[in-house]
Amino acid sequence: MGDLVQFTKSGNVGVITINNPPVNALSPGVPEGISDAIDQLQKDDGLKAAVLIGGGSTFIAGADIKELEKMAAGKPRGAGLLPLLLKIEDCRKPVVAAIHGTALGGGMETAMACHYRVAVRSAKVGQPEVKLGIIPGAAGTQRLPRLAGVAKAVEMCSEGNPVAAEGALRLGLIDKLINGDLLAGAIAFAQELAAKPIPKTRERHDKLGTPEQNAPVFAAARENARKKQRGLLAPLAAIDAVEAATKMPFGEGCQVEQTLFVECLTSPQAKALMHVFFAEREVAKIPDIPKDTPLIPVKTAGVVGAGTMGGGISMVLANAGIPVLVKEADQAALDRGTSNIQKNYANSVKRGRFTQQFVDERLKLIQPTLSLDGFADVDLVIEAVFEGMALKKEVFAQLDKVCKPGAILASNTSTLDIDEIASATHRPQFVVGTHFFSPANVMRLLEIVRGKATSKEVIATSMQLAKKLGKVGVLVGNCRGFVGNRMFHPYVRESVFLLEEGASVQEVDSVLYDFGMAMGPLAVGDLAGLDVGWRIRKEYRHLEKRGIRQPFAGDRLCEMGRFGQKTGRGWYKYDENRRAIPDPEVTALVRKWAAEAKIPQRQITREEILDRCLYALVNEGARILEEGYALRPGDIDIIYINGYGFPAHRGGPMWYADTVGLKNVYHRILEFHKQHGELWEPAPLLKQLAAQGKTFADYSMEKRATA
Ligand code: 3HC
Ligand code: NAI
Repeated sequence: MGDLVQFTKSGNVGVITINNPPVNALSPGVPEGISDAIDQLQKDDGLKAAVLIGGGSTFIAGADIKELEKMAAGKPRGAGLLPLLLKIEDCRKPVVAAIHGTALGGGMETAMACHYRVAVRSAKVGQPEVKLGIIPGAAGTQRLPRLAGVAKAVEMCSEGNPVAAEGALRLGLIDKLINGDLLAGAIAFAQELAAKPIPKTRERHDKLGTPEQNAPVFAAARENARKKQRGLLAPLAAIDAVEAATKMPFGEGCQVEQTLFVECLTSPQAKALMHVFFAEREVAKIPDIPKDTPLIPVKTAGVVGAGTMGGGISMVLANAGIPVLVKEADQAALDRGTSNIQKNYANSVKRGRFTQQFVDERLKLIQPTLSLDGFADVDLVIEAVFEGMALKKEVFAQLDKVCKPGAILASNTSTLDIDEIASATHRPQFVVGTHFFSPANVMRLLEIVRGKATSKEVIATSMQLAKKLGKVGVLVGNCRGFVGNRMFHPYVRESVFLLEEGASVQEVDSVLYDFGMAMGPLAVGDLAGLDVGWRIRKEYRHLEKRGIRQPFAGDRLCEMGRFGQKTGRGWYKYDENRRAIPDPEVTALVRKWAAEAKIPQRQITREEILDRCLYALVNEGARILEEGYALRPGDIDIIYINGYGFPAHRGGPMWYADTVGLKNVYHRILEFHKQHGELWEPAPLLKQLAAQGKTFADYSMEKRATA
């Protein structure tokens, strides 16, 4: 049976324990171990039933995704889990799944093949495969509707969200909640089963509904998937597979599921989403910061500035249960900030995201103030005042005087040099950048900016804090724009160049939207405010090299007061519901300005729009990697997926470049270089990898091996 699965006895009940830390994935050896245990159970006349349980912190969290990656890359699949699950279900003695932690994917499928399921209250169950670009591959789409009903099975398999134990009990997915010790409770439950039937999930039909009942469920689910999971194959495949369960016998339904599973598994989407799964976990690993680096306890915090970002950051801290002092410059700004926080919370209650009670408790944790008096006691301060070096330095010098030794002083700056900000203090080792994205209480990304002097403890604490705040923290270096905005700059630049060369606003945005971006680059500009980039460009104009083409149409719009959504006009016009309406005036203006600037006009293909925008990201990303401002290509991917609406099923910009082939990307960039000059100088790392026939993923693996 090996070390991964143990079979022990407790009176007349066999106990099958899976011990494959950290999440008891069904890695090679685990299914075999369970199979051997079932054989022993069958053979042993002294045993009446068995309990299947996970050792450590969880039940089975699913198939081993590393193995799935290998299969996606072509490794033969073998029989999969199906024969084992039939064997469990056909066992002549009842098998009880005892669930704590999570029963996900193949774990849930195993539990459903058992005859009964019990769980602790904190357990969760689900079929999250779609989040990896696949569908359940071991009859999950066939057994789940038989236990939970068609509508719930369609929802769980196509959306992938887990269900908590109490909900699972109501659905009939589990049979009993266990209070107290799970194993003892499960054994007691198993002992009572002697006189009871041994139900096989696959033989149940009572919840499968009629064609008339099911048709609207499937139609609604498909429409929902097309809207909310735009461009994704797996949700639609999952719905097809559940539909098969309602239309054909179990065995045939399983065959349909298998075909769809393999189609999804071998698709580029699954490979990309599995890359994202592991990249999201790898960002937490920083080569020179060991796991056991001491952390600074963050029990209280202060925020300076209650504007757009300061308000959101205060909410994020309060939501995590951290009391926060919010300091503003004057009463009017403080009142405005407080009222915005209250409005945002009220909206969350209206939308059902939070209960009123939760919000009341959070609001009590946020204490507005006009002075830094209480800041002497806080463990962390996040500064979010206007973007300007002089003001930031003034604030940090004050904080340095007021805050206790050991307090972390963080800046939310999006463009300024963290080292220069730190130089205003006598404790640069405690200064770090925490770059939240707008709206801070919604966006998942947090760039953590490492200054020259930032200590390992401060970085480790910031990374851990990100997790506590429900964010994905990515460590970046201190360069202009850090990682995300530094790459965004050439991306937006190209989108405006394309307009100036003859493309329309809608053409540019629709190409990127159809690729899967949450919004096109021009619509994003309108949302964020075109004036933000305009101000930054004016501030940094002295750094621009003379004779190099710069986009100008956006600045011209700003000169006309067209700042985007906030002024009702930008690249688009906006109605009272903030719906974007194409504006022929913008098209005419851009054409006129282009003629004045003598920019030749031409028909631009969708392919060129896509390549220019995306390869601008990739080229800058390659430079950032080579210069060491991002640790890995995967880190850049996670930044773009969580902060910039890059479609996860494309894996992020660096992964996407790998899928196109770096040689192809490099040659296209060379063409752009020839046509548009210096701005398209290929990044040396890209050139090198293209010449070697390698990918960014290879580069990452080689770096990991030599670390
Ligand atoms: N396979 C391989 N490794 C896995 C894994 C899996 N299914 N699930 C988690 N891991 C690894 C993670 O990569 C991480 O490794 P690391 O420590 O080296 O970085 C470690 O386990 C811990 O994972 P988390 O950091 O995510 O731990 P959390 O406690 O935050 O979360 C969890 C635990 C909720 C189980 C989360 O890991 C998770 O959601 N895992 C994926 C579950 C899943 O998608 N299951 C379905 C797989 S597909 C399938 O079953 C197909 C079937 O239908 C045939
Ligand atoms: P904002 O203009 O909405 O808010 C700034 C607030 O700081 C104002 O309310 C102002 O009264 C206050 N303030 C100024 N001086 C102060 C002082 N001495 N003490 C206390 N409060 C003071 O600005 P926003 O957008 O919130 O930006 C704040 C910071 O976050 C900037 O550094 C910006 O670059 C950065 N940032 C902004 C993002 C955005 O999308 N708005 C995204 C990420 C970072």
